[in-house]
Amino acid sequence: MKDPSAFRREAVEKLRKEVPGRAIVAASGGIDSTLAALLAQEALGDRSDALFVDTGLLRAGEVESVRGFYREAGLQFEILDGADRFLGALQDVADPEEKRRRIGREFIRLFEAEAERRGAEVLIQGTIAPDWIESGGQLRDTIKTHHNVGGIPSDVKLRIVEPLRDLYKDEVRALAHHLGVASPDRQPFPGPGLAVRVNGPVSRELLEIERTANRIVEEEIERAFGARQIPRPWQYFAVLLPVRTVGVTGDNRIYGHAVSVRAVESIDAMTATSMELPHELLRTLAERITRALPGKVTRVLYDITDKPPATIEWE
Ligand code: XMP
Repeated sequence: MKDPSAFRREAVEKLRKEVPGRAIVAASGGIDSTLAALLAQEALGDRSDALFVDTGLLRAGEVESVRGFYREAGLQFEILDGADRFLGALQDVADPEEKRRRIGREFIRLFEAEAERRGAEVLIQGTIAPDWIESGGQLRDTIKTHHNVGGIPSDVKLRIVEPLRDLYKDEVRALAHHLGVASPDRQPFPGPGLAVRVNGPVSRELLEIERTANRIVEEEIERAFGARQIPRPWQYFAVLLPVRTVGVTGDNRIYGHAVSVRAVESIDAMTATSMELPHELLRTLAERITRALPGKVTRVLYDITDKPPATIEWE
């Protein structure tokens, strides 16, 4: 990339040429789409609407933290409630790639409806080079279909514009710095959200169990690493497994769910190493998760598999 200020100038000019009318921006709360939205805001002013979708598949507290991050970045935005639509589309779907396809389709259908309502013809996305490379656009076989690329149905009615399409992560960081946007203090999170962390079919009830377990993993790991003043793992989360397992409380035999905890080190998510966590911390996780979800989670496991052969997410 040229220097970030030249990139910004050219990207803004190009956006003005490419978008004569109105546009909407798919804002996910991550740094890439935030920068795309800021460039669109600079190029198009109030002809561009940044839309953040609450899919019902987000983590605990996520809407609030995204709201704070956008305010800090100076981005005008709206939050759309899409939970019923997404959960409806995912009903009884177990296959991970089919989940991604359906989520991709719902995003696009929702954006098409919003664009029509607002008189927009263009959808601006924060896709960067590794997104389409990993989605089978070039070089690699399709590993997992990223929802913002592979999941787009071929009959999409909107013209897609991707101002960051040729940038790599280090260039994104340089651009963020140039635009005065602090990288959000958050770990990478998959576009399909908690849908790929509830293994198998997703329901509101299972998502709620997953959300609670995931919140506890985030809290405990952040506390433990913060206290020792060492950098947090690349990613750390809970996965709700599609198995039932027997447990006891007092005299009662319960048949609950199993949760797997994952914490990995990585540089670029292409490979990853399962972290060695103190046993004390793992015990705390098992205790807190089972206590917070009595009768629902009866077993907590720790995933010690590297990538490869596993992937970071379970689905
Ligand atoms: P895997 O599980 O393939 O994940 O090792 C590599 C990185 O990508 C994230 N991930 C996704 N991100 N849409 C996304 O935007 C997806 O469908 C998706 N699947 C995985 C994952 O969290 C990790 O950081």
